[in-house]
Amino acid sequence: MRRLVAFALLTAACNGGGRGDGDTGAPIDLDDPILDPEACEECHPKHFAQWQGSMHAYAAEDPVFRAMNARGQRETNGELGDFCISCHAPLAVRLGLTEDGLNLDEIPRKFHGVTCYFCHDATDVTDSHNAPIELAWDGIMRGNVTDPAPNDFHDAAYSARQDGRFLATGNLCGACHDIVTPKGVHLERTYAEWLASFYSRPDPLDPQRPDQTKFGQTCPQCHMSTDPETTVIADYEGVPGNRKYHDHRMVGVDVALTPFPDPATAPMYEGDQRAAIDDVRKSVLCGSLCVRQGDAGPEIVVWLHNETAGHNWPSGATQDRRAWVELVATKAGDEVLLESGVVDDATPVATLDDPNLWLLRDRIFDEQGEEVHMFWEAASYESKQLPVATTFFGDATTWQKRVYPVAEMPEEVRIRVRLRPMGLEVLEDLVASGDLDPAIVARMETFDVPPVTLTYTTQAAEPSETYGSCVHSGDVCRSPFTDCTRLSSAELCAMEPACTFQDGTCQPAP
Ligand code: HEC
Ligand code: HEC
Ligand code: HEC
Ligand code: HEC
Ligand code: HEC
Repeated sequence: MRRLVAFALLTAACNGGGRGDGDTGAPIDLDDPILDPEACEECHPKHFAQWQGSMHAYAAEDPVFRAMNARGQRETNGELGDFCISCHAPLAVRLGLTEDGLNLDEIPRKFHGVTCYFCHDATDVTDSHNAPIELAWDGIMRGNVTDPAPNDFHDAAYSARQDGRFLATGNLCGACHDIVTPKGVHLERTYAEWLASFYSRPDPLDPQRPDQTKFGQTCPQCHMSTDPETTVIADYEGVPGNRKYHDHRMVGVDVALTPFPDPATAPMYEGDQRAAIDDVRKSVLCGSLCVRQGDAGPEIVVWLHNETAGHNWPSGATQDRRAWVELVATKAGDEVLLESGVVDDATPVATLDDPNLWLLRDRIFDEQGEEVHMFWEAASYESKQLPVATTFFGDATTWQKRVYPVAEMPEEVRIRVRLRPMGLEVLEDLVASGDLDPAIVARMETFDVPPVTLTYTTQAAEPSETYGSCVHSGDVCRSPFTDCTRLSSAELCAMEPACTFQDGTCQPAP
């Protein structure tokens, strides 16, 4: 095999291609630079820099990942095996460098994390969860460019699986972003949520068009945004300037907890990741805050809506995530009538003694029904998320509300939606078992989700027929409605169960 590879590399130097043994599926030589993200930097400096500051590059450095995997291996007597590491450092597993992820420090860095080679050599995805992604092992870099200019380092080929305009990219991303644990619990469901949503549907107006997701959105269309301007995508002689660059930071809600990728460059990468997160977050939710005289007395009604996430919110590691509503209602003279979800940044929210707390997350339980924190212990779960719409204008069904009874009509109510990528009590649990450095817990931040930072005052609020008087996060971003007339054609109207097409317009169903 080594001789074969040496031969392949020689040919590669002459005509740029033909590595490994695509026919037999034998992996290529461990020293082949095609496996090393740093080898891409020369010609793809921006892709490299963005990837290096991404959670994909961080996946096997993440101290919480390492702590949880170590504890999981210990508590299951090694039964977890390569379960965790096959998503957090997939190349290391495929190349036989690890069986449990406990020896990461002995494995060259180029095999840590979700690397360029793993995504760009993928040719098939055989199931919907736990990363059943097949690689070609032929060194051909697959992407969205139909006519790649030749270069002397790698062969390139077009592939719909690496082209964000096609639904096929959804299962490349989704196969890892969907976890069924060894006990059979469907614990992370980002892909399943997306599949159930209208974002995954082919365009009903023209099923034949090549761009199959104009109607909905694929994971890359939301997570790998592109500029309207075209550019070059490789610093190499003879490349055309009419390409689209796709963002490789792929941000969600998580941020690195240690100076990453190294202390010297960390501030730059961290700043860049925060900026990308802020940009996505500024439109992710909508909310309304209303005050009314209810049947049983005065009440505050808070409405929340998942506006731009193509899956539930929060999603992914929802058993670790904590998102909640902080509410403070006062009357004249700043007398507090009601407080909920008010904690400082060092206090866990899930253990608050607060009957009104609106907390969004998964809770996980063992076989005895006891609440647990570590996901290999989970035998069942209970989920509170803001759902994604399953139909195009499914707005009315995906708004969620919470009623807070108060003794008197308040004069001012302030709310914020707050988000912690990981619950402090989960991290403290890992510290208590001796697996995590306590300094990491102090680095966990709490973020605001700005569209739903609202202040109600009697002056600022406007009356609404059913909900009392309200303030909203924006003009188009207000409590539930189904406006059938916005569905401009018979086909779109037919997609919405609440509407029917009559007399040339879409109208509410009788
Ligand atoms: C010596 C320069 C060079 C190096 C090093 C290099 N590339 Fe490329 N790459 C190119 C050129 C040139 C293109 C074609 C650009 C174009 O046509 O606009 C390209 C295209 C690509 C494409 C798009 C293929 C398609 O058809 O859509 C991918 C994906 C890619 N490279 C990944 C990588 C990865 C991953 C690495 C590191 C392992 C890497 N490249 C290293 C020069 C290079
Ligand atoms: C998690 C998977 C993933 C990883 C990791 C990844 N890419 Fe990509 N890359 C993609 C996808 C998907 C696209 C196509 C996006 C689209 O069409 O919307 C893409 C597009 C590209 C392109 C084509 C030009 C462009 O911007 O669309 C190049 C070149 C490229 N990637 C290089 C790299 C390099 C170099 C690395 C590592 C430093 C890397 N990628 C890491 C998934 C990945
Ligand atoms: C090999 C498995 C794998 C593939 C394929 C993959 N991811 Fe990931 N992704 C991960 C892991 C593991 C992490 C989390 C790393 C960590 O936080 O320790 C992650 C993190 C992320 C995050 C950040 C999550 C957060 O909470 O901030 C986003 C967004 C994301 N991936 C999107 C994508 C998209 C889009 C694609 C497809 C182009 C993709 N991923 C393909 C494994 C994968
Ligand atoms: C319509 C746009 C859209 C689509 C489609 C989409 N996402 Fe997201 N995603 C978002 C937004 C917005 C967020 C939330 C960011 C925030 O809360 O600040 C997010 C968050 C995430 C997160 C972080 C987890 C969390 O708690 O919310 C992950 C992981 C993720 N997405 C992966 C994916 C994957 C994988 C796919 C495809 C199966 C996908 N996304 C499709 C918009 C989208
Ligand atoms: C099928 C692929 C897959 C498997 C298996 C997997 N992970 Fe992950 N992991 C991910 C993805 C994708 C994310 C990002 C999701 C997000 O941030 O919402 C992630 C995120 C994480 C995070 C950081 C985010 C957080 O808030 O928890 C930790 C820690 C983690 N995983 C630990 C583990 C451990 C420990 C195991 C094994 C018991 C494991 N993972 C198994 C794909 C996987």
